Amino acid sequence: MSNNSKTINPAKSIRGEIVLPGDKSISHRAVMLGSISEGVTKIENFLNAEDCLSTMAAFKNLGVGIGLSGSTVTVNGAGSGGLKKPAAELYLGNSGTTMRLLLGILAGEDFECTLSGDDSLSRRPMKRVTEPLRQMGARIEGRDDADLAPLTIHGGRLKGIDHISPAASAQVKSSILFAGLHADGVTSVTEPFKSRDHSERMLKLFGADIASDGLKTTIKKGRSLKGKNMRVPGDISGAAFFIVAALLGEDSELVIKDVGCNKTRTGALEILKEMGANIEINKKIDGWEPVCDLIIRSSKLRPATIERSEIPGSIDELPALMIAAAFAEGQTVIKGAGELRVKETDRIRSMQHNLSRMGAVIRSKGDDVVIDGPGKLIGSDLSSFRDHRTAMAVSIAALFASEKSVIDDVSCVNTSFPEFFNILKSVSIY
Ligand code: S3P
Repeated sequence: MSNNSKTINPAKSIRGEIVLPGDKSISHRAVMLGSISEGVTKIENFLNAEDCLSTMAAFKNLGVGIGLSGSTVTVNGAGSGGLKKPAAELYLGNSGTTMRLLLGILAGEDFECTLSGDDSLSRRPMKRVTEPLRQMGARIEGRDDADLAPLTIHGGRLKGIDHISPAASAQVKSSILFAGLHADGVTSVTEPFKSRDHSERMLKLFGADIASDGLKTTIKKGRSLKGKNMRVPGDISGAAFFIVAALLGEDSELVIKDVGCNKTRTGALEILKEMGANIEINKKIDGWEPVCDLIIRSSKLRPATIERSEIPGSIDELPALMIAAAFAEGQTVIKGAGELRVKETDRIRSMQHNLSRMGAVIRSKGDDVVIDGPGKLIGSDLSSFRDHRTAMAVSIAALFASEKSVIDDVSCVNTSFPEFFNILKSVSIY
């Protein structure tokens, strides 16, 4: 057993009230936009986890003054064109969001810079952003014609493009919109289904000239961005693991306070409600990012058919939904989830491996996943595949299995949720 392994004992119930760390997507964007704005940006409830710290370190190395105290970040914005060529290559760890969005920002900067990452990040497809950024005028080099990191980018004068994105990816959309801040003319991105819109909301908040019309978002350069103070809502993707745990436990009642409930992120809540989940959503703030309190109670779950169009709104929650499906009475089908194959690990493969080991009936056909419940899951030796969301999802499965389980390496939860196991313990009744 490695030092990073984790034993999970079966639990009965999930009870209590929790507040979760800040949303990962919003935390990244707040540091990024604060860095290229004029003046000071103060970010409260910043997600103090490895991925967001990679973003912070990258901008420090690009010459931005950034301070972190607890979960509050203060950014002294460098203003438009104010980033400095870093002294060395920027190492971004496991963070795909940092690499893709940063490429969009660097596309407008007239210096050369190399971005690298860990083994997982070095395998993830980057062509989806490097190709449109090249069309805009950036020079980018890297393995497989700039599909794989390390990537060297030399930005500068850009021209606007109308990009039709084959994938509903917020990372692609955001990268191009960030480049559009510096591009002559107009830049637009059209996506096949709506992906999370945090970049659009935050760009507007900082003063950018941006507008969305259905699936098309358009940005024009010219307006300087101004720093802002903000509080990051709790991470709905982190909440998903606790929501599923509370539904599966007997006699559970869990309150999750101050969670982001932007409707481009709440697909999993809708799907779970269709499955019969008892989830009360109380909206609290309807500001630049909506915030709500959730109350979740034990529920008997029905199966669901999750259509391709529902994937972008629930992409990071699909591993948790697969656990819910394994306990639901009947067949759940997840259609067109191919994007899961290019996450930090292939999450169709990792979830199939673990759920099958526990005795669940799960199969994949291409990019579709079929789960036949309800399974009686049996505790087993499980693997995180060094992927944070696989580790957290299988932890929840293990909590409701018949014997104890051991997960080989859970250090990966530090990329998005270092407090995960402490919070889980605080609400688990054995
Ligand atoms: C993210 C977008 C999604 C998501 C990822 C974070 C973002 O990725 O899976 O965890 O912050 O923009 P894609 O844009 O690749 O779908």
